[in-house]
Amino acid sequence: MPDYDTFEHDVLVIGAGGAGLRAAIEASVAGVRVGLVCKSLLGKAHTVMAEGGIAAALANVDERDNWKVHFADTMRGGQYVNQWRMAELHAKEAPDRVRELEAWGAVFDRTKDGRILQRHFGGHKYPRLAHVGDRTGLEMIRTLQDHGVHQGIDVHMEHTILSLLKNGERVVGAFGYERERGRFKIFRAKAVVLATGGIGRAYKITSNSWEYTGDGHALAYEAGAELIDMEFVQFHPTGMVWPPSVMGILVTEGVRGEGGILTNKEGKRFMFESIPENYRHQTADNEEEGWRYCQGHKDARRPPELLTRDHVSRCIVREIKEDRGSPHGGVFLDIAWIKSKIPNAAEHIKRKLPSMYHQFKQLADIDITEQPMEVGPTTHYIMGGIRVDPDTQMSRLLGLFAAGECAAGINGANRLGGNSLSDLLVFGKRAGEFAAKFAKENQHGRIDPDQIDVTAREALTPFERTDSENPYAIQKELQQTMQDLVGIVRNETEMREALKNIGQFKTRADNAAVTGNREYNPGWHTTLDLKNLLIVSEAITRAALERKESRGAQFREDYPDKDERFGSVNTIISKAGDGSMRIRLEPLPQMPDYLKRIIEENR
Ligand code: FUM
Repeated sequence: MPDYDTFEHDVLVIGAGGAGLRAAIEASVAGVRVGLVCKSLLGKAHTVMAEGGIAAALANVDERDNWKVHFADTMRGGQYVNQWRMAELHAKEAPDRVRELEAWGAVFDRTKDGRILQRHFGGHKYPRLAHVGDRTGLEMIRTLQDHGVHQGIDVHMEHTILSLLKNGERVVGAFGYERERGRFKIFRAKAVVLATGGIGRAYKITSNSWEYTGDGHALAYEAGAELIDMEFVQFHPTGMVWPPSVMGILVTEGVRGEGGILTNKEGKRFMFESIPENYRHQTADNEEEGWRYCQGHKDARRPPELLTRDHVSRCIVREIKEDRGSPHGGVFLDIAWIKSKIPNAAEHIKRKLPSMYHQFKQLADIDITEQPMEVGPTTHYIMGGIRVDPDTQMSRLLGLFAAGECAAGINGANRLGGNSLSDLLVFGKRAGEFAAKFAKENQHGRIDPDQIDVTAREALTPFERTDSENPYAIQKELQQTMQDLVGIVRNETEMREALKNIGQFKTRADNAAVTGNREYNPGWHTTLDLKNLLIVSEAITRAALERKESRGAQFREDYPDKDERFGSVNTIISKAGDGSMRIRLEPLPQMPDYLKRIIEENR
């Protein structure tokens, strides 16, 4: 094995978004040496794109809120296939994590009496999202980063990890490369935390940034950990649809939380026509009541635009398919209408939604205080991911932890908006704490040079090929396949076709060629990312085929109803000995009675 640069840490955190930073801080506070590897520059993680807020039952705006209601909302939103223990820990611990963030310097919007302000979001019974205008993720990262830099964490920016290093069934480090120069590096660690985010780049239309290529999911899978519930991909109802260059960019649910309404080309608020039975008692049936809700009237019920994301996205798709959409293939989202309701509405909108105002003004030449926006669903989040222990966040592999979007369990079949930022804090902290504990109890494991040689050789082979497949073309076709055949509405025939395509893309990716050398070579980065994108795409498709029902984010037109046989199972994906992808169903752990009672009491 060549003499690669080698770094030694007690805990290595891979990913520097909210979960990674929070894990690194916690591990560092526990007194171990922490390394933090990130694909991008520090401070540029995709968490900065999270807009509307952090869900936590602080009860600052409505004193009826508490962890039990938050827990029940999360379980209902997830259609009861959530890992109940994670949902419980999340609801209980989120308020403390938000207050801690404030103590570290986060400047939240305020209530009139000076407490952290909370706004309405879909599926949450009470106003629950602590926010900083519509730039909450940015403030979270700024705060965690400011706090983290004083902890003595070693940061390795612009590095991509190619494989996890194992000693038997234990993870003992990672092998990767520096993106600028292309130099390989070895990271020895007693414990590793994956916090790499999501998979959005497997789809053509996505709110996700370029880093979101399923790296953590694929690294864990390849190393022998299990993935669960990969079929549940969240399509956020409102992404930009025009102009084409910005298609998919997020339009925060905060717009609807502040009173924004969805209309079709006939000017109709179509969401009033589609209120699901289990949310009917909580949902307004007239415009006035919905508006009063957004104004904070406690006796009012939510407008139908604030139903769960899976449902709102499907309604939008229906309007578009039935030719009632907007000129550029979306529907209208209108916040300007509140001019008829409040004085100084334009100033109010600019103050509450400053990023949205600038985003539309600069990218689409639309003044949202005067005109409606055009929006449509965009791939936003994956509920599925690495299977972890709910308390410690350790995967099935010793020494391998995961937190944030790349881990799974808390959200079940559909995530409520705002539960992601709180998930990052709650489980980032837990992952850091337990990874540090593991590191203190274990010595460094032995690094196997053969593993490193195999990964290095594989990574460099594309340079040896000439006149071969273009990685960008494969990536583009994969994104089109996932968009068209494994999207919001699914069926067996199309997904079988997707699997066939993915098989062919794999063969082509094995033959992809890059020119130039290892320095500053985006074609090479794309080739290496492709492997991960193909793994997660196959996992999503296989899991979606296996779940022969519609539940939450998974809608199958060939099985349009919920099926109780799938009501208490997870889909589990693992790598078989022959290298193929294996899928099985496994019953969820039994929920204890006290939690069942909480759900009953909060129906
Ligand atoms: O709409 C939003 O601001 C997104 C928030 C989230 O996904 O949690």
